[in-house]
Amino acid sequence: CAKLFTSNSLSGLDVVITAGPTREAIDPVRFISNHSSGKMGYALAEAARDAGARVTIISGPVRLDAPEKVTVIQVESASEMLAASLEQQKNCDIFIAAAAVADYRPLQVAQQKIKKAGEQMQIALVKNPDIVATIATLDTPPFVVGFAAETQDVATYARGKLESKNLKMIIANDVSNADIGFNSDSNSVTVFWGENQQDFPRMSKSALSNELIELIAHQYTVNSN
Ligand code: CTP
Ligand code: CA
Repeated sequence: CAKLFTSNSLSGLDVVITAGPTREAIDPVRFISNHSSGKMGYALAEAARDAGARVTIISGPVRLDAPEKVTVIQVESASEMLAASLEQQKNCDIFIAAAAVADYRPLQVAQQKIKKAGEQMQIALVKNPDIVATIATLDTPPFVVGFAAETQDVATYARGKLESKNLKMIIANDVSNADIGFNSDSNSVTVFWGENQQDFPRMSKSALSNELIELIAHQYTVNSN
């Protein structure tokens, strides 16, 4: 259904959103990735734009069109996403990390296609940089909002990430339910900030994004005053 009104809650602000999966190369024809569709990050970008923000998406490989009047910077790996994030946060009031960043990447990227050999094979992996934590611990960080994808003890893990990554807010997703989250068109989340929490029942990612952006805009204003 059509949007009945446009709030101006983010008028004049710059918002940067990471979205989608990352791809970590194994060799010239193979990579490690995940099933993130990018839909939540792109829906948040549209909601932030509709709330009056200038919006940039730093996007891993997804099958989505660039939203109108939103800048999209395409990246593949977590390292590329970090580099783009460090550049874009310079001109950014609110940074939202919706990307499903691969936690590990192959220690070495083979220059040639790896040939099939024995019955088993191993690939050594090394931890990727934590993009959202890196941005949130800069000297003068933007207002940083993260996501937490959990299958159990959602509140405990989400609050842990809120604190350990130095975030202002975290949006927790229960990904144990296959009907919501990752690849779906709808989602239900709980947002944590300070000692507070707010539940959002299952709804379309677009409706949810409008509500999340209003909450983020409100907390941003409270935080800046
Ligand atoms: N994130 C990030 N860079 C990474 C890993 C995660 O910026 N290398 C961000 C995600 O975009 C999300 C938040 O951190 O906003 C939490 O991601 P999640 O995968 O839930 O948490 P992790 O810290 O990676 O911990 P784990 O996967 O072990 O639960
Ligand atoms: Ca992770």
